[in-house]
Amino acid sequence: MSMNTAQNTIEQTVSAPDSFLSGAFGYPCRTAQLPLDIESLALELTQTPAPAFMWIKVPDRTDPAFSALEDLGFRVAVEEISYERPKGLPVPPARTTDDYAIRTVPLADAARHAQLAGQIGALAADNLTTSRFHQDPLISDATAGRVKQRWAMNFFAGQRGQQMIVAITPDGRVVGFNQVLAGPTHKVIDLICTADDFRRRGVARALVTAMFEDGKTTRVGSQANNTAADAFYRSLGFQPVATSLCLHWHAPLPSEKANP
Ligand SMILES: CC(C)(COP(=O)(O)OP(=O)(O)OC[C@H]1O[C@@H](n2cnc3c(N)ncnc32)[C@H](O)[C@@H]1OP(=O)(O)O)[C@@H](O)C(=O)NCCC(=O)NCCS
Repeated sequence: MSMNTAQNTIEQTVSAPDSFLSGAFGYPCRTAQLPLDIESLALELTQTPAPAFMWIKVPDRTDPAFSALEDLGFRVAVEEISYERPKGLPVPPARTTDDYAIRTVPLADAARHAQLAGQIGALAADNLTTSRFHQDPLISDATAGRVKQRWAMNFFAGQRGQQMIVAITPDGRVVGFNQVLAGPTHKVIDLICTADDFRRRGVARALVTAMFEDGKTTRVGSQANNTAADAFYRSLGFQPVATSLCLHWHAPLPSEKANP
């Protein structure tokens, strides 16, 4: 695989472009997966001009790739936890309230509800602050917020998710959303949040119970630093099933290369 940059062409790349992140960051972002050839990756990185960003997931610090990637300048951005709620668990009763209603927008109706996109994007940017992008000191909060904003808004462009479940007040304010990916045997909470002033009022519980389907497990990924989300998922019967580390690499500026 070859990669074009402003300054040269790299013929052998181990990584692949991440066009979604490149759009949000405003410069080239790439990703790679294990197993990978560390020497080829090292060559690729030395030929990658700044600004550039790459991310790779590894199972844990004992994986032989971990120390090799650290030596190349990759740093742990966040420890990720995958949770699963087995199919067949009883659905908890929803809290009855007039403060908000739960509405499910299927992908087929996404374009008709495009007026919700701005509110949902803003909620995502303001509330999803435990993400790996927010945890990385080399990524600005503005960029990290833009990643989450675009991610959520992509639903309305038909580019991400099969359902958008929203909590909406009688006067039309969106106070929470659950962006859902749906597969044949499982469903995934892709992004979920509740507005600050509506927390602990059953919004997220209602957003998640609205996605449950008979015969399907429900999955979600979260971060080890997100204790509120951990308590929330466990309260609904989710259990942790796997962990991984997400590593970030930022191309060093020329001055940093000269003075490591
Ligand atoms: C996690 C989050 C979505 C929960 O939303 P919420 O609407 O406040 O949650 P609910 O009111 O439906 O809570 C249901 C239950 O979850 C548990 N829970 C929720 N938030 C909790 C917290 N901060 N601490 C402890 N338990 C919590 C409680 O058992 C709660 O029931 P209770 O209020 O009757 O005790 C919300 O805190 C949030 O938006 N956080 C920022 C975004 C985020 O981290 N999203 C998840 C990314 S993986």
